[in-house]
Amino acid sequence: MGKLDGKVAVITGAARGQGRSHAVTLAEHGADIIALDICADIETNGYALATEDDLEETRRLVEKEGRRIVTAVVDVREASQLREAIAAGVHELGRLDIVVANAGICPLGVDVPRRAFLDSVDVNLVGVINTVSAAYPHLTAGASIIATGSVAGLIKGGTDNPASGPGGRGYSHAKQGVARFGHDLALQLAPESIRVNVVHPSNCDTNMLHSEPMYKVFRPDLESPTREDAEAGFLGMHPMPVAYVEPRDISQAVLFLASDDARYVTGLQLKVDAGATIALTVPFAHA
Ligand SMILES: NC(=O)c1ccc[n+]([C@@H]2O[C@H](COP(=O)([O-])OP(=O)(O)OC[C@H]3O[C@@H](n4cnc5c(N)ncnc54)[C@H](O)[C@@H]3O)[C@@H](O)[C@H]2O)c1
Repeated sequence: MGKLDGKVAVITGAARGQGRSHAVTLAEHGADIIALDICADIETNGYALATEDDLEETRRLVEKEGRRIVTAVVDVREASQLREAIAAGVHELGRLDIVVANAGICPLGVDVPRRAFLDSVDVNLVGVINTVSAAYPHLTAGASIIATGSVAGLIKGGTDNPASGPGGRGYSHAKQGVARFGHDLALQLAPESIRVNVVHPSNCDTNMLHSEPMYKVFRPDLESPTREDAEAGFLGMHPMPVAYVEPRDISQAVLFLASDDARYVTGLQLKVDAGATIALTVPFAHA
């Protein structure tokens, strides 16, 4: 018996990284998966996004768990693409219980065009809202919505510093928006017994973190920082002695929130951050 037997989950940004890890983890626990990804690059984003081969690899891994999967190439900025793909997935798999709005970009750098602010907000905030809006008509009591925020949205100086450029500011703006959206939506959907929670990862071991623009933000003192150079900077974020968490660490949080173990957990901002926010925020400032 799996925790998620009989449930269906839609996951955006599922071709690689945390999204793929969520797909495989939820499948391991019995869920069938609707896996969506843009599988193309976005011009202002200074590192490559996933490919259709990556999405196929997610399919292979989910099927290896003995679960069904429907994949589609979808840009979360496009509400109609999401509506179509989710409706097709639900038609094939029969229902929808879990929404993981995870797709994201991080177009860092001082030299990127100002457009990067809007691209960041479009993908990281509007994309989350589009995903939830497209999924909502298919959800019933007991459903669970999980959005991916970021520690960058919870701390001052995360990506809203001059070295991160307009795309970084857009990233912070979007992730703060995701936190607020999750909070307010949780209150709206509670009477329908639909839960909404936000997971906030710190540095996570994926292509987004291991990218040239990210290395430069963490080591502005170096012209061409290597992974090793950047890791010293990553480590500095965390009171716990670790440079980054792994995708499976975030997936365990998603699994809990998706499952009936969390049946009365809603409106949570769940940080998986090796202590980053306790070191970098003022506690109980609102009290
Ligand atoms: N890696 C980190 O350090 C870190 C830290 C905090 C939060 N996050 C967040 O975690 C989430 C997952 O990122 P990741 O770390 O797995 O990085 P990643 O780059 O490996 O994965 C992101 C995925 O989203 C997809 N994607 C991007 N734009 C899309 C769009 N418009 N439509 C559909 N799919 C799109 C990409 O193709 C890719 O497969 C993101 O929301 C990110 O902001 C990451």
